[in-house]
Amino acid sequence: MDKKVIWLVILVLQLLLKANSERVFDVRKYGAKKGADISQALMKAWRDAIASTTSSKILIPKGHWKLSQARMEGPNKAPINLVVRGNLQAYRDPTQLPVKSQEWVTINYVNFLTISGGGVLDGQGQEAWKLNDCHKNKNCAKLPINLSLNFINNSIIQDITTKDSKNFHVNCISSRNVTFQRFTVSTPGDSPNTDGIHIARGNHIRVIDSIIKTGDDCISMGDDLSDVLIKNVHCGPGHGISIGSLGKNVQEKDVKGITVQGCTFTGTQNGIRIKTWPSAPAALTISDLHFIDLTMVNAANPIVFDQKYCPWNHCDLSKPSLIKISNVEIRNIRGTSATSDVLSFICSKAKPCDNIRIGLIDLKYNGKQATTICENIRPLFSAKQTPRVC
Ligand SMILES: *[C@@H]1O[C@H](CO)[C@@H](O)[C@H](O)[C@H]1NC(C)=O
Ligand SMILES: *[C@@H]1O[C@H](CO)[C@@H](O)[C@H](O)[C@H]1NC(C)=O
Ligand SMILES: *[C@@H]1O[C@H](CO)[C@@H](O)[C@H](O)[C@H]1NC(C)=O
Repeated sequence: MDKKVIWLVILVLQLLLKANSERVFDVRKYGAKKGADISQALMKAWRDAIASTTSSKILIPKGHWKLSQARMEGPNKAPINLVVRGNLQAYRDPTQLPVKSQEWVTINYVNFLTISGGGVLDGQGQEAWKLNDCHKNKNCAKLPINLSLNFINNSIIQDITTKDSKNFHVNCISSRNVTFQRFTVSTPGDSPNTDGIHIARGNHIRVIDSIIKTGDDCISMGDDLSDVLIKNVHCGPGHGISIGSLGKNVQEKDVKGITVQGCTFTGTQNGIRIKTWPSAPAALTISDLHFIDLTMVNAANPIVFDQKYCPWNHCDLSKPSLIKISNVEIRNIRGTSATSDVLSFICSKAKPCDNIRIGLIDLKYNGKQATTICENIRPLFSAKQTPRVC
């Protein structure tokens, strides 16, 4: 009798363990072969993973794998771990994407997704660059290779590198509670395309402990965004961290609660830049911003508020921007600038910058006296500033 009870307990325990253990969907079981396009195998594994009622793991093992394109969509029933241990390569010619208007890898409508594994997403942009005649022909096809994450919740992207790709670009749109950590974007500084991470229409987004080398913005933020933390990110080369440009579209919504902390900008075109269009219809607010403990290493324009953003002078400067920037904390900004105007606050005449609190600033320009620009702003000061601000 006792023995029977023990056996029963063991049996029940085994069943419970099975139910709770992660199911593994290895792309090799779905026909993935080295050297061949694994997109079909990955899609089959994805379909099984989203149907699973217990946690699942999609495994892309070590080695080099070709991926022409993948569009993975939810809803999923249980958490999914996408484990990329290997090197996923796009085809060399980016014009060969099977569905031309789509990104390289798209993940939409999922909840509790983790992407990890220490692997590499290789957009092969450099090769594409060589195959195309972009070094001679300015009008050559230069499609960015994109990783696009839209409408995803409670997700983590960690220990993944995107490399060797001239045109890599990560989009994170309409998502909530998403963390990028130990994420590496590595593209040469002379690549003239949209690069880095773009975040918009989201809430509770984190980019931490990451390295972003690009030819364009390190991280750019669009409208309708709240609660963003960018911490311990190394930017450069590239254009730095930006909010905007905003104002063009009347439907744009507020940006609120952005913290950039403990970041380093090395040789970037800007440190942090806010851009809003003059003579534009949107009248949103950009508020509760914290720019703290930032190190500039020969970065041009360490902090810029540009409410007369007008690239190529293709806009009307006669009417001011209608966007209000308020409640901003800027403190402990140190290092060296590549330009003399280390802080530049060009605020709107219609909506002056409001409640801008400036703490310690210690910025040098080439050993010479640095300067600041102040329009329609009256900052509040709380510590020593070198140079003197405003
Ligand atoms: C990649 O993203 C950029 C910026 O969002 C977009 O302009 C471009 O069309 C996208 N590329 C592809 C191949 O989808
Ligand atoms: C993400 O969260 C939003 C807001 O709670 C919800 O409307 C949406 O359906 C969620 N998406 C997924 C894929 O779970
Ligand atoms: C955010 O997502 C993480 C990762 O899935 C999860 O552990 C955490 O509970 C979520 N936080 C909230 C507030 O939902």
